[in-house]
Amino acid sequence: MNSFELNKIAGAVLAGALTVVAVNEFANIAISPEMPEKNAYAIDTGAEESAGTAAAATEEGPSLAALMASADAASGEKIFKKCSSCHTAEEGGANKIGPNLYAILNKAKGSVAGFSYSGALIEKGGDWTYEDLDAFLKKPKDFIAGTKMSFAGVKKPEQRADLIAYLRTLGTADAPLPTE
Ligand code: HEC
Repeated sequence: MNSFELNKIAGAVLAGALTVVAVNEFANIAISPEMPEKNAYAIDTGAEESAGTAAAATEEGPSLAALMASADAASGEKIFKKCSSCHTAEEGGANKIGPNLYAILNKAKGSVAGFSYSGALIEKGGDWTYEDLDAFLKKPKDFIAGTKMSFAGVKKPEQRADLIAYLRTLGTADAPLPTE
């Protein structure tokens, strides 16, 4: 092979490379993709964005007492459908993936017979007060890190109040409502 032929080959390779670059550039200019800042379809993973959580934490909504005063147990019973894949609520109901929730209001945490709780829930201790139920149902893993209740939570305070009002009708209807 003489150097003239080598030059031809090198030239051809170079020309090929240039064509690829040119086509790429052209495609970029012609299509000029604009990436949307957010996904077109929001996927609700149950996880709030951290900025949102911080904002919500400082936001002063109505107190739990006010929410409970206007809560609607019938609506809570409907919302409880979210829970019933794992929980029964009637008296003497079976434990499923989660424990039976009859008379859970003001009951000691982790005390349903025959249910095997996570160590985290047992360690939390105390009773299921209105406040604790509200905090747990908002985001179970925030209130009890390590709980085995795999449930994202109920974001709306009104819905949590409705749920708690429903739970209250199950054997604890005479429990005094929170005052603050
Ligand atoms: C995917 C299944 C699942 C869903 C859905 C679920 N839970 Fe649970 N729940 C559990 C499990 C499992 C536990 C036990 C947690 C532990 O031991 O850490 C639990 C525990 C609880 C407890 C504590 C009970 C006790 O005896 O201390 C309450 C209260 C509760 N759940 C309420 C609810 C409510 C109300 C809903 C619906 C908004 C709900 N859960 C949805 C699985 C679930």
